[in-house]
Order: sequence, then C-alpha cells, then structure tokens
Amino acid sequence: MADAGVPIRRRRAYDGGMASDLRITSSLMDATLLDLPWDVPLEEWTEADVVQLPKGISRHLVRFARLSGRVVAIKETTAEMANREYAMLRTLQRLEVPCVEPLAVIDERADRDGQPLAAVLVTRHLRFSLPYRALYSASMKESTAQRLVDALAGLLVRLHLVGFYWGDVSLSNTLFRRDAGAFAAYLVDAETGELEPGGLSDGRRENDLEVARVNIAGELLDLAAGGRLDESIDPVAVAGSIVEQYTSLWHELHSDQVVPADERWRISERIERLNALGYDIGELSMRTGDGGTTVAIRPKVVDPGHHHRRLQSLTGIDAEENQARRMLNDLDQYVATQHDLRPGVGDEVLAAEWFERVFAPVVAAVPIELRGKLEGPEVFHEVLEHRWFLSEQQQREVTLDEATASYIETQLAYRRDEAALLGVPSTMTMPVVTLQEHAADDDETDWRDLV
Ligand SMILES: Nc1ncnc2c1ncn2[C@@H]1O[C@H](COP(=O)(O)OP(=O)(O)OP(=O)(O)O)[C@@H](O)[C@H]1O
Ligand SMILES: [Mg+2]
Repeated sequence: MADAGVPIRRRRAYDGGMASDLRITSSLMDATLLDLPWDVPLEEWTEADVVQLPKGISRHLVRFARLSGRVVAIKETTAEMANREYAMLRTLQRLEVPCVEPLAVIDERADRDGQPLAAVLVTRHLRFSLPYRALYSASMKESTAQRLVDALAGLLVRLHLVGFYWGDVSLSNTLFRRDAGAFAAYLVDAETGELEPGGLSDGRRENDLEVARVNIAGELLDLAAGGRLDESIDPVAVAGSIVEQYTSLWHELHSDQVVPADERWRISERIERLNALGYDIGELSMRTGDGGTTVAIRPKVVDPGHHHRRLQSLTGIDAEENQARRMLNDLDQYVATQHDLRPGVGDEVLAAEWFERVFAPVVAAVPIELRGKLEGPEVFHEVLEHRWFLSEQQQREVTLDEATASYIETQLAYRRDEAALLGVPSTMTMPVVTLQEHAADDDETDWRDLV
C-alpha cells in the first residue's frame, strides 16, 4: 500500500468544460477515484453515481458511490475536518480498533465555473453494517436496544484502551454488524476524537461515558417519540446500562485480584474469563504478599479479538468475535472427534478439513439470490442454532445438511436483505482448500466474496 499523507495533484480534463485542480490525499492508488464527478456538488450526483444504502443521521451530507467494484461513503465537509478525520481513522486502523477504513481526502474541488466546492472524506463502506435505525422493521425491541448498548460499551472500552477519547459517542456515530445473535460495533465518526498516547485519565473516560449515556437516551427517546421503540422499553434505563456494562468490563480487564497461594488455579480461571470476553493477555504481573500466602494478579497489555484471531489463523475465516467463538466450538469438537478416529493427524490439517467439509458447504448451499441477506459466518451460526432447535423438536440428531436445507427454506428466505451490495469483494484471506464439489453451484459469484 502506498503511503498516505503525500498529496497528489491531478489536473482533470473535462470534455468541453474547464479543467480544474484536485488535491487528493489517499492510501489508495486507484485512478478510478478520478472518475467520480468531483466537479459536481455531492447533493447533485445522480443515480448513475450513487448507491442507495441505509445511513444514519448526520449534519454533513454523506452519500454512497461505487468505486472499482466496491462501495465507498463520501462525506462533504471542510478540508481541515476531512484531513483530521482521515488521519485519525488511519491511526485507529493501525491500532486495530474496529472503525471504518479511510480511503482518501479530496480537496480544492471546483465546479465547471471554477466555483469552489466542499472537500470530501472517502471511506470504504463497511459491508453488512447497519445504522441502528435500520435494525428493526416496525419498532425496536428491548433485546435489540440492549444488545446495541452492550456492543457500544465494548467498543468504548476498546477505544479507551488505546487512549482514544471519542467526544461524540452515540448510536448514530456507530455502525453495527450482526455477531452470532449479538452485535459488533464499529466507530464511523472520528471527527471529534483525540488520541492520548499516554492513556486516558479516569476523568476523560467518565466524560465519554456520560456523553454516551446522554446521547443514547436522546436517540432512544427520539425513536419512542416516533412510535418506533417497543413500549416496554425505558429509554433512560437502557441508555444508563452502558455505564454498568462499560464499568464491569473495564474492571475485569484492569483490577488487581488477590488469590490465596493454595488457590492458584484461580489465575488460570481469570485468564479463561478474559479470553471468554474476547481479550488476550500480553503479560500477567504477580506479586506474592502476606508471607507468601496470597498472590496479586493483574493482567497487562490486553488485546481484544482472541477468538477472531484464533479462527482466522486456523481457517482464514474473518468473523466477528462471537461468531468466531461459536465456530471454534464446532471446529474444536470436530478436531477432537477426528483425533480419536485418526490419531496423528495434525490440528491444522483437521481445521482446514473442517472448513472444507463443514463450514463451506453450509455457506455454499445458500442460493445466490439469498446471499445478500446475511454474511457467511452469521448464516453458519444461525444454522447451528436451527439444528439445535430441530434436534430438540424432533428428539433426534438432525444432520447439518438437513438443518441447512430447512434453515434456508424456513428462515433465511424470509429475512430482510442486509447485504450492502452483492459482488463487492471482501478482504478475506482464505486457506488453500479445494472446493470443487461446491464450485459447480455457481461460477458467477464466489460465495467467499460474501463472507
Ligand atoms: N464507511 C461507511 N460505511 C457505512 N456507512 C457510513 C460510512 N461512513 C458514513 N456512513 C453513514 O453515514 C452516516 C453519517 O456519517 P458521519 O457520522 O461521519 O457524519 P457526520 O455529519 O460527521 O455526523 P455528525 O452529525 O455526528 O457530526 C453514518 O451514521 C453512517 O450511517
Ligand atoms: Mg456522525
């Protein structure tokens, strides 16, 4: 990838019109960026350029467009704001925080008469992501509202761990992707953010949390006023729960724990608990005190994405944390069973086999016209749930093939379409496996593009 921050000037020639200079700062050396009509105000772009996708509420004008087979979000703002947000999002990406990917800043735009136009920030559209207002059909249920708040609490902890003060935490500034029944939250608006490499003070963290609580309450009250929030929900209480969620997660990650020396197993218990929350521990500091009878433990350098990373290294599947946890349960079971049957076969081989024989057939079984409904890992998670449900109902072991067919017919077909857009390539890296038996299904769209 070319380095960003090196602005390039391009003279763009128009047929018949004036030529104008554009200043492009981009990590993306893609000449097709110049094909978009930068000499036209964004609000006047036509159907030929823009793509209609669900979008949150914002002060600036944001529209989506196609660029080299993918979809980008374009926000018109000031040059200063665009450059600042671009740089901030790049830093957050480097720090591996879930956020939208910045692609370019385009500045010094002018229309055909030479009149200046606003600068734009271009980000990659986050596939299968939804703004909170698109997550319900008639009105939002309590469980959905609660899961959104929980996901946002998790995101805020991750941001604070890297020393990022958001300043404008809200549901509108977050995008959500389904994650095995829960949601995974991504930061979409970094305009007000500040990074403090030395870490955030408790006061600043509390400040962000209070902004979050107030904004969420406002957003839920707004839904309620429009009759779009389930009547049983208390907006203020749900918004307030972000404080408890955040605080208990932060505490779990940072607090000292004192265990009696003869109960050292509690140390591994703590590590397992943190892993279950999706965090890896870089270092654990232990101190013995009280004449050697107690051990104080404190995890250090916590790194989220434990299951995501393990699944990706074993199979190449790029899934959200809860989806990954779910898949790993299935994969580990597969590996354990195969170990018994074929001792000596390595875990890596068995993981690749699981991918080819268990995961891939489920995703490949989804007909092309239904592939925009949900992404692959979420489909797999729902099939496993459905299989459990069928087995309970029929009091027998339902096979994965049966469950897949029944799920597609009775569940998936009735879901709303949630794909951003079909055919947009993803950045997923795959293990080398052969999938001949499935490849025959369709040679137009590779299902892996949809994962
Ligand atoms: N890369 C992206 N992928 C998907 N959706 C996006 C992307 N960028 C922006 N959006 C959508 O556009 C909306 C507005 O973007 P954003 O919050 O950055 O605008 P804003 O005008 O700065 O907002 P605010 O009013 O909070 O200042 C978002 O809520 C989101 O729904
Ligand atoms: Mg915003």
